[in-house]
Amino acid sequence: MRPVEIAQHFIAEHLKPADIAIDTTAGNGHDSCFLARLVGPEGHVFCIDIQTAALTNTARRLAAEQLEPRTTLIHGDHAQLARLIPLDIQPRIRAIMFNLGYLPGGDKHLITQATSTTGAIHAALALLPTAGVMSIISYRGHPGGLAEHKAVAGALADNHRRYHCVETPNSGPVAWLIDASYRHD
Ligand SMILES: C[S@@+](CC[C@H](N)C(=O)[O-])C[C@H]1O[C@@H](n2cnc3c(N)ncnc32)[C@H](O)[C@@H]1O
Repeated sequence: MRPVEIAQHFIAEHLKPADIAIDTTAGNGHDSCFLARLVGPEGHVFCIDIQTAALTNTARRLAAEQLEPRTTLIHGDHAQLARLIPLDIQPRIRAIMFNLGYLPGGDKHLITQATSTTGAIHAALALLPTAGVMSIISYRGHPGGLAEHKAVAGALADNHRRYHCVETPNSGPVAWLIDASYRHD
């Protein structure tokens, strides 16, 4: 399985119908659609991206599957996660997905950055204080990718959460799987 599939498999084991989830990097909408299918018509998915082009692509993909009613698209920086998600919703979040790097088919210079990514990871873990799951796909191959990948490792270690890291050979993508109900000291 590819890291993206490993992450989806992990999330699917935990996210249930009527749950609330966040796609922090909506991109072309694959993960947003995946989450929206899992939560069903009673659930909801917040799909965040810093690029309007990505949100346009995500909206199109959601519409093709008639999943828009169970989603909210948010144009913003995921480092501001706590401000972007309505306060009353925050305690109900059960899954958060990150797929770092650049928008496939888009501008490869517009990539996630280590500083905002670590800010977003800390914010995301704060939204999952005792339960819920989170996945992160980091990429080591593009300029800045390795530094961001190392920053992800540092942010997770700082938070004392137990996580599983699945690496692929030759500097390929890495899947980080976090179950927020487990901590280590
Ligand atoms: C690899 S793509 C995501 C792929 C997506 N999950 C999918 O299923 O198609 C990474 C996305 O992160 C977005 N991004 C970069 N920096 C961001 C930030 N600070 N906040 C939110 N999104 C960001 C990019 O615009 C890009 O669309």
